[in-house]
Amino acid sequence: MTILETKELRKVYGDGETAVHALDGVTLTVEKGEFVAVVGTSGSGKSTLLHMLGGLDRPTSGTVRIDGKDIFSLKDEALTIFRRRKIGFVFQNFNLVPVLSVRENIALPVQLDGREPDAAFLKGVVETLGLSEKLESLPDQLSGGQQQRVGVARALAADPEVLLMDEPFGALDPVTRGALQQEMLRIHRLSGRTIVLVTHDIDEALALADRLVLMDGGEIVQQGKPVELLTQPKTPFVRDFFGRSELGVRLLALGQVGMAARRGEWLEGEAIVASLTLREALSQFISRQTDKLPVVDERQQPLGVLHFADLLRQREVS
Ligand SMILES: Nc1ncnc2c1ncn2[C@@H]1O[C@H](COP(=O)(O)OP(=O)(O)OP(=O)(O)O)[C@@H](O)[C@H]1O
Ligand SMILES: [Mg+2]
Repeated sequence: MTILETKELRKVYGDGETAVHALDGVTLTVEKGEFVAVVGTSGSGKSTLLHMLGGLDRPTSGTVRIDGKDIFSLKDEALTIFRRRKIGFVFQNFNLVPVLSVRENIALPVQLDGREPDAAFLKGVVETLGLSEKLESLPDQLSGGQQQRVGVARALAADPEVLLMDEPFGALDPVTRGALQQEMLRIHRLSGRTIVLVTHDIDEALALADRLVLMDGGEIVQQGKPVELLTQPKTPFVRDFFGRSELGVRLLALGQVGMAARRGEWLEGEAIVASLTLREALSQFISRQTDKLPVVDERQQPLGVLHFADLLRQREVS
């Protein structure tokens, strides 16, 4: 089922000689429950696209449909209400209200809508994001990573149909970023919520998204499964964007240990889980200085053995 749909979306900033064609005919469809990452060079129109998708700004021409509704046919006030109910935004700069506590910040968008957040749902979100102890704190008493989590919790508080995120983890250190990425994956898998993520970080896009949309100059250059963009780039730009040199390592991020492990073999020792990516397995091989690793399933039952060579084999067949 289609949840988000744009047709020939155009956005021109300014006019005459100085006009900027930020979006130049973007037609995009997102299915319910999909995790889509929008990547591209700086200035390629990613943020502009996200703003249009969320009805934060009106296009010069073209349409955006959310859940079948042509959102720009709505008057400003109706659009604001629609947006609050259907869409959660997470921006890079957390946009928290400094004088409100974490609890108040999270509840704010729902309360603006004259409602109260569902207590049980909210408790779950807050626990998932590790914020239970911080509910009464003010934003400036939190670390950057914690503030970003509040931003995510706030976006989820209204239980929105669609979550739009613009470089949400860009300002965080790699460890915190990794932890929050895992949280997002978990939330996505648990809730099946539709997510559109704009990111500069190709590895983040590869690790999280079902589908990549690559933009350049206000247009979509190519979209598809990550492995398609990596292995079947339509243009030299696409190939260069994903960087030839690290292609092998990037492909590893797409394979799972469970797919590559040899069934019927077993080995004593600390096992890795089948759901790890091959890339994570690679770092295990390196840190443990071994060329074979036992693999268990989610219930910690033996599944097989991953050989170092299987990483390469996987890469060739991808
Ligand atoms: N409010 C605005 N007024 C005028 N021009 C704008 C405005 N917002 C964006 N632009 C221009 O539109 C183009 C696309 O901008 P956009 O912010 O969508 O790019 P982006 O892909 O998000 O870039 P980045 O990766 O740097 O965030 C750029 O050339 C930008 O300068
Ligand atoms: Mg941007």
